[in-house]
Amino acid sequence: MMSYSELLRNLSIASDLVVVRQTPVVRRERRMSLISKEIEAHYQQVSEAERLLDGVGEVERLRTQAILARHLPPPPAVIFDVGGAAGVYALPLAQQGYEVHLIDPVALHLEQARARASKSWVELASIAQGDARRLDIPDDSADAVLLFGPLYHLIDRADRLQALREVRRVLKPRGVLFAAAISRFASLMDGLARGFFADPGFRGLVAADLTSGQHRNPTNHPQYFTTAYFHRPEDLAAEARDAGFDDVQVLAVEGPAWSAGQFLATWNDPAQRESLMQFLASIEREPSILGASAHLVAVAHRTD
Ligand SMILES: C[S@@+](CC[C@H](N)C(=O)[O-])C[C@H]1O[C@@H](n2cnc3c(N)ncnc32)[C@H](O)[C@@H]1O
Repeated sequence: MMSYSELLRNLSIASDLVVVRQTPVVRRERRMSLISKEIEAHYQQVSEAERLLDGVGEVERLRTQAILARHLPPPPAVIFDVGGAAGVYALPLAQQGYEVHLIDPVALHLEQARARASKSWVELASIAQGDARRLDIPDDSADAVLLFGPLYHLIDRADRLQALREVRRVLKPRGVLFAAAISRFASLMDGLARGFFADPGFRGLVAADLTSGQHRNPTNHPQYFTTAYFHRPEDLAAEARDAGFDDVQVLAVEGPAWSAGQFLATWNDPAQRESLMQFLASIEREPSILGASAHLVAVAHRTD
């Protein structure tokens, strides 16, 4: 059977959902948005290319990469990074020898991913515009799929399950899913840590988040994020199981560290950083810690 890369090589560029390979460069992204206009507008305002470079973003990235390293099969395996944005995870994985395909609905993110790939001389197997709910990928193609973004931007459970079932469809048997969620309690802690809590408008967002998990940002303040669903840890596990996954583990990415008052001083000291990374790994499965982590990652398998 033809691999996904071979299939891409043989495909003429189809319809208005265009697959973009590095060489030859053929670019024509969908003009109509695949996602809601406020999510699209948010990603025009904030830089996903830089969010995870330092501070609390860096702990999120390094901890996520540590989780990936423990659960991914060795290279060369086929990975789809769905919601891959500017390639923060895709590019280092490609550098490690994986065949990495990046998919994202936001044209700006695809441009950023291409620019970073070309600047760092890393070749992604493909960069394509797409939506996690409808993946233009044959069945049984992937050894692993990263879903780091779509689950919190899909606000209806039915859409999240559809995305998870799509991932299961494209995974090979024994393939592994990594799915990120934002904790139900993240905005409460973030508001306290970063001083947003003084704003009554922000406290209104927190009230809605805690009640329903439905995060909306009518203020359009870029640091208050955008339309999203914030999971309880047990909801994330249940959604993965309901979509047919087995061996579901939900892990705390940053634990409670990111919201601590002295976090940056600790993080910027190499010895303290090393200890912190070890402690966070040692508590990542503690049920009492999960909700205090801004980000959760579900690791789950297709076992049939
Ligand atoms: C906060 S960013 C995370 C980017 C990166 N994966 C990371 O973990 O840092 C969320 C990403 O999900 C993408 N996204 C939102 N809705 C999506 C959907 N329905 N299907 C695929 N990607 C989606 C956004 O365009 C954005 O790139």
